[in-house]
Amino acid sequence: GQTRHGGPAGSPFVRACRREPGPHTPVWFMRQAGRSLPEYRAIRANVPMLESCRRPELVTEITLQPVRRHGVDAAILFSDIVVPVAAAGVDLDIVPGTGPVVAEPVRTAADVDRIRPISRDDVSYVDEAVRLLVAELGDTPLIGFAGAPFTLASYLVEGGPSRNHVKTKALMYGDPELWHALCDRLAEVTLSFLRVQIDAGVSAVQLFDSWAGALSEADYRRYVLPHSTRVLSGLADADRSGSRRGDGRAEPERSPGVPRIHFGVGTAELLGAMGEAGADVVGVDWRTPLDVATRRIGPDKAVQGNLDPCVLFAPWPVVEAEVRRILDQGRAAPGHVFNLGHGVLPETDPDVLTRVVALVHELSARPVE
Ligand code: CP3
Repeated sequence: GQTRHGGPAGSPFVRACRREPGPHTPVWFMRQAGRSLPEYRAIRANVPMLESCRRPELVTEITLQPVRRHGVDAAILFSDIVVPVAAAGVDLDIVPGTGPVVAEPVRTAADVDRIRPISRDDVSYVDEAVRLLVAELGDTPLIGFAGAPFTLASYLVEGGPSRNHVKTKALMYGDPELWHALCDRLAEVTLSFLRVQIDAGVSAVQLFDSWAGALSEADYRRYVLPHSTRVLSGLADADRSGSRRGDGRAEPERSPGVPRIHFGVGTAELLGAMGEAGADVVGVDWRTPLDVATRRIGPDKAVQGNLDPCVLFAPWPVVEAEVRRILDQGRAAPGHVFNLGHGVLPETDPDVLTRVVALVHELSARPVE
């Protein structure tokens, strides 16, 4: 890695998450590692998705591919939101072209009890992959991640991907006690999984509540916010020393907790509440302009986003105009991490992504005080 900024903690990405000025607006892409890259398709050719997540050397290579190719400002660990759930004992698979499929969907309290708490030993391959990556990446920060309780619960209750989340909402409204028991257990697993990644050295974490936008704000606050808050606030003082401060006293020689990003799709009405869950950065999809999002989120959080992934299929002048607009609207926020509004689509031309990175850097370059 490069050594210009004094380690990942001084990188443009971490600075923007902390609302500190930096040399340019940092940029990375959700799903930057994946099928848009021929080198990814080649290396994954004969390895099933879940198995690839359990091979630290393969995880390292796949995670580094987009960093090398695009020059993005952050790497994101190659894994999947269902990896910790599988480690907790749930029988599931990731089916190509479909997504996670659960053998026995969660219906009863006994099903919830079978989701075991996890420790580092259950996900030692993640611990190992993060350590390998941190050593390889130098000054480039590594983002760890997990799925939030609602999005995980949706896969577990539906048994797979869902458009309307009917079974999930039926459980939520029909048996709130069981719903909260399930989300409690998922929050615990998620918290453990993120702590393993932080202890191994990630510079930031993103909590994906991809499908939270299916809920009204009132239902979100009642059924989801307490559980996501438990995860994010449980990390408030987590740092890379492998321990957490319990006494509340300032320890200036230590970095504050790693930045926490919270993201969902279709969350225009939930942006304020998602920030309240304890995020430092709120991810915004393409439906809400970043200046509007900032008014909803408040002045004390950075924003991440929000180019429509479909715009990458438009003629370059359109892409360029959209990047300019997003950078302009992002100036309303106290910190902006450029990203897409959701993941890179598999059919995306990777050369367009590389051009977007260069354009964001060029348009946002500013002298550092
Ligand atoms: O580059 C990165 O962003 C890191 C890798 C990453 C993957 N999954 C790899 C993956 C991340 C951050 C995820 C998170 C994830 N997984 C989410 C939250 C992010 C989002 O998109 O909202 C969700 C909802 C999942 C569940 C999931 N896993 C889906 C919907 C799919 C796609 C199914 C398909 O084949 O289209 C997966 C599989 C998956 N996870 C792939 C990758 C690269 C594709 C599998 C393959 O390459 O064969």
